[in-house]
Amino acid sequence: MRFLWTFLRIRTTVNPGQYRRALHQKSGETELLKHLRSQLKAAGPITVADYMREVLTNPTAGYYMHKDVFGTQGDFITSPEISQMFGELLGVCCVNEWILGGSPRSMQLLELGPGRGTLAQDMLRVFQQFPMMQDMVSLHLVEVSPKMAAMQEERLTGVIEDDKRKNAASGGDIVYKKRKTKAGVPISWYSDIHDVPRGFSCYIAHEFLDALPVHKFQRTPQGWREVLVDVDDGEGPHHLRFVLSPTPTAACKGFIQAGEKRDHLEVCPQAGVLVQHLANRIVEHGGAALLADYGHDGTKTDTLRGFRNHQLHEVLQEPGSADLTADVDFSYLRHMCAGKDKALTHGPITQREFLENMAIELRLQVLQRNADESQRKDLLSGYDMLTNPDKMGDRFKFFSITRQRTPPKGSRTPSEPAGFYRLEFQ
Ligand SMILES: C[S@@+](CC[C@H](N)C(=O)[O-])C[C@H]1O[C@@H](n2cnc3c(N)ncnc32)[C@H](O)[C@@H]1O
Repeated sequence: MRFLWTFLRIRTTVNPGQYRRALHQKSGETELLKHLRSQLKAAGPITVADYMREVLTNPTAGYYMHKDVFGTQGDFITSPEISQMFGELLGVCCVNEWILGGSPRSMQLLELGPGRGTLAQDMLRVFQQFPMMQDMVSLHLVEVSPKMAAMQEERLTGVIEDDKRKNAASGGDIVYKKRKTKAGVPISWYSDIHDVPRGFSCYIAHEFLDALPVHKFQRTPQGWREVLVDVDDGEGPHHLRFVLSPTPTAACKGFIQAGEKRDHLEVCPQAGVLVQHLANRIVEHGGAALLADYGHDGTKTDTLRGFRNHQLHEVLQEPGSADLTADVDFSYLRHMCAGKDKALTHGPITQREFLENMAIELRLQVLQRNADESQRKDLLSGYDMLTNPDKMGDRFKFFSITRQRTPPKGSRTPSEPAGFYRLEFQ
């Protein structure tokens, strides 16, 4: 079966204490472990955020940097890989934003962490259906992994051109690759969103924010302490272990909000800075951001976990060999945008609500009309996987940033982006 339920990255609570249980044999060693161990022995424990950054994006041994992590042969599967309907409906949402923005003469589609490039491909196909949008769309991909960038290039252009720069993260160029899609849409790749030109843009981040590094904090009788990663030469199951900082770290002082009620906390400052940057760009140049991810609204505590081969994997085991991910705290993103004059946030709402508001059933019916029996079955199973509350429907959330705006006079168009209210068809 193509869309196995076990493909989903199912989350459970992880307690740092569980790693202290004694096992006779330690887990395996990886290249990244050797690098981390010498760093820890020389300079002492590091934050969980630094550990996560190394595990996922270390230029030589990071999890995302050199292999295809998706699908049956990989570690997980994502919504755009499950059904074309997902990307198509996000594409329609962007067309609506472009119209609400006064149909500017150029539009940038900017995707953060584009994976295999499937989502961008499905969205661009929608834009091509609108003659008014011809020759005005450009695609901007922010991708740290040279392997993923090569996969995106192949999917979007049909070939991989010889590229002298093998490591996207370590080169000095601002745009590290420029190509055109098969339909002639210009594509540029960047390591950092700050390098993408300013202009009216739709910003898409699907399962990107959950890969950004989180700091972890624990409330103790002595006050807040930060969870750190240290070497474990003792009896623990892995070569690394979690420890608590003996005193409050700078991050404890800077990132924990007054009145915080939870006893354990994850904060992703990089996501906070990113949404502020998006809000600034949107207020100045127009457009909208659609951020979709696993997440909660400021209620969850300990969500960091690993995935390998579609199974949960301990966070400190064989670093670099498994994905690490932490649920997105949407209340924190909203808080970080709150001081941004003229920016509006919307959601989070569930993926099911978003897709149903975008009339996914109608798209399903149209696609089924032209499909054979086996394609119809695939379409139906993809629809179920994306919208079923027990599968991806309620687990994934959509969040959006727009400018403050009032609907045009006489128009019934709400000020929310499409997908955040029910579309009406006459
Ligand atoms: C879980 S995958 C999601 C891929 C895709 N959006 C999807 O839904 O299929 C995360 C993506 O973000 C990229 N990535 C992770 N950390 C990044 C960072 N700090 N900067 C840019 N890209 C990053 C990965 O290489 C990968 O393409």
